[in-house]
Amino acid sequence: MSDATVMDGKARSRSIIDQVTEATRTLKSETGIQPGLAVVIVGSDPASQVYVGSKAKRAEECGFKSVKHELPEDTSEADLLKIVDDLNRDDSIHGILVQLPLPKQIDEGKVIQAIDADKDVDGFHLINVGRLATGASEDAFVPCTPAGCMVMIRDVLGDDLSGLNAVIVGRSNIVGKPMAQLLLAANATVTIAHSRTKNIAAVCANADILVAAVGRPEMITAEYVKDGAVVVDVGINRIDAPEKGTNADGSVKSRLVGDVAYEDAAEKARAITPVPGGVGPMTIGMLMANTLRSAYRAAG
Ligand code: GUN
Repeated sequence: MSDATVMDGKARSRSIIDQVTEATRTLKSETGIQPGLAVVIVGSDPASQVYVGSKAKRAEECGFKSVKHELPEDTSEADLLKIVDDLNRDDSIHGILVQLPLPKQIDEGKVIQAIDADKDVDGFHLINVGRLATGASEDAFVPCTPAGCMVMIRDVLGDDLSGLNAVIVGRSNIVGKPMAQLLLAANATVTIAHSRTKNIAAVCANADILVAAVGRPEMITAEYVKDGAVVVDVGINRIDAPEKGTNADGSVKSRLVGDVAYEDAAEKARAITPVPGGVGPMTIGMLMANTLRSAYRAAG
């Protein structure tokens, strides 16, 4: 057994959602404003369907108005932009989330930039990206997954990460890059490693804080982990699990794993997030917090 602290994202997210629910009650009773979240999904990707379903359900639990638009795979860019425009104009909606990825006939960038930056609770709009990058993060919506990772990192290490080396594996716009900005703003010394990085295991082994967001099942083994590191696993990968037997249709059963080889890494880490039950639930908690914040802003 390892001594690593398991960072329980499910419980932490629950505490955030409880706070949001309470604050929503106060906002409603003092101003009559109910936070509203609209989630939009195009197509029927099963994983995206699950994520969007959980987001809408949590919004209801928080006492929000929750609207879900489910559009067919062949939806045109113009039709999607029309829906975004309608939601931008709808005063009962404070947060708009268009689930990514979108089908290939739709230009993702164009859709994201069409969302009103003040309703962009995903934090993907260029205005919010710019606010975060320039340190104007008071005004920015911060992308939910890296924001959730920061909450867990701060729970272990405190607010000021001065003198600590942080390595992020993965350079996506959704996770890797905003994660780097947040760690930098907290005074960490930040490196982004990726598929073209030389000696990646050695780079990672220098990290006091290691964030894995590459989408490669169990890539981060013990040799990537420094003794006493805080390890945050953003990956959610479904892999075959023949040891669990077969499904009714004869296909091999599967299981979810992160980008971190959990047992292996936990032997060295000071704290580590599990998959599932780590970063995933935190993402939804932060989405609720961003939507509430947007509603408070609308209330003046
Ligand atoms: N697809 C995967 N993660 C996310 C996310 O955080 N927001 C949106 N809109 N789409 C995603």
